[in-house]
Amino acid sequence: MRLRSTRVLVVDREHPDPSAIETAAACLRGGGLVVLPTETVYGLGANALDPRAVAGIFDAKGRPATDPLIVHVHGVEELASVARELPPVMRTLAAHFWPGPLTVILPKHGRIPPEVTAGLDTVAVRVPAHPVARRLIAAAAVPVAAPSANLFSRPSPTQVSHVLADLEGRVDVVLDAGPTDVGVESTILDLTVWPPLIRRPGGVSLEALCAVVPDVQLMTGLGDAADAQVSPGQLLRHYAPRARVTVIEGDADAARRHALAEIRRRVAAGVSLAVLAPEEDILHLRGAWDDTAGTRRVVFRAYGSRSDAPRCARELFDALRAVDRPDVDEIVAIAPDAPGIGLAIRDRLMRAAEGRVVRVGAAPAQGAAS
Ligand code: TXA
Ligand code: MG
Repeated sequence: MRLRSTRVLVVDREHPDPSAIETAAACLRGGGLVVLPTETVYGLGANALDPRAVAGIFDAKGRPATDPLIVHVHGVEELASVARELPPVMRTLAAHFWPGPLTVILPKHGRIPPEVTAGLDTVAVRVPAHPVARRLIAAAAVPVAAPSANLFSRPSPTQVSHVLADLEGRVDVVLDAGPTDVGVESTILDLTVWPPLIRRPGGVSLEALCAVVPDVQLMTGLGDAADAQVSPGQLLRHYAPRARVTVIEGDADAARRHALAEIRRRVAAGVSLAVLAPEEDILHLRGAWDDTAGTRRVVFRAYGSRSDAPRCARELFDALRAVDRPDVDEIVAIAPDAPGIGLAIRDRLMRAAEGRVVRVGAAPAQGAAS
């Protein structure tokens, strides 16, 4: 891994200092690595047309070269220089969801080097909405290849402290515009097949996509071996923290009852445990636990609220990082059964748990991860 001296430039989200943007853009044009805020998570960017710069991304992240990158462009006008064919549905999708957290998979243009797409004949593209990302891409005047700015298999970074914990000394410039808005990554929609297939649920919900393109389907069995070959990054291991994670899905009462039983069982077995759940569930569990169990230590960590699923999404990765500590052996996580962004939350937790998901109580909300 090449050592670099990392410069952090703090910028205003709406009105970033033009000289900071130009410094970062010059770095990209010169083949360097720039961490940029997007509305979903921070990205680790390089000039997508420069194979050596792109190789630097894989080196910095410790990411296998078989896992393709997303190319970020400024607008729909740039699509034709990245993809060689645009299906008719592309215009509708772009009009509704770009700029924004939707990535589409299209047939690759010959101009995009194979290093970006891991040799695939398809390319993933998106037009980010974050004002800093937009200004940077415009100033660099090149398509920007960027995976999430974390070390391979760590949760995606939603703030610069996460980025630096993973990548300090491995990237050249970091643009710090504060916490990101959505908190989970973009939705990946494959347009090389019909019906269009969601390969990763994310910032644009299944419901929103179906309202515009009713044919859209959700890939089932996310993460099994067959799928991993088509979308190599979609491995179950992708988000796994060091501790063993179990996810409980379902309505509040049933999930809390099950979680409390799990906590008791694990603590009795001498396991050092963290509990990750929406704040109402944490309040309930902490109360019930203090009443029954006395002094044994459990780390309780809230993310968002059952009444505010977008906040759960924004806070999820920070909470996952917070409980991923050497003294925590196991994590019990409760996933809200909310529609919309709830699907992406359940997907990320399911991956963190490598598929260990227990469904309790009433039937899950429409669009639950399968
Ligand atoms: O929100 C996001 O999408 C963030 C920000 C930085 O834009 N990016 C992100 O990138 O999450 P990354 O590399 O962490 O995840 C991209 C996923 C990978 O799982 C990869 O396998 C998949 O997209 N992907 C990329 N190109 C693909 C292709 N041609 N076919 C199928 N899957 C592809
Ligand atoms: Mg990633």
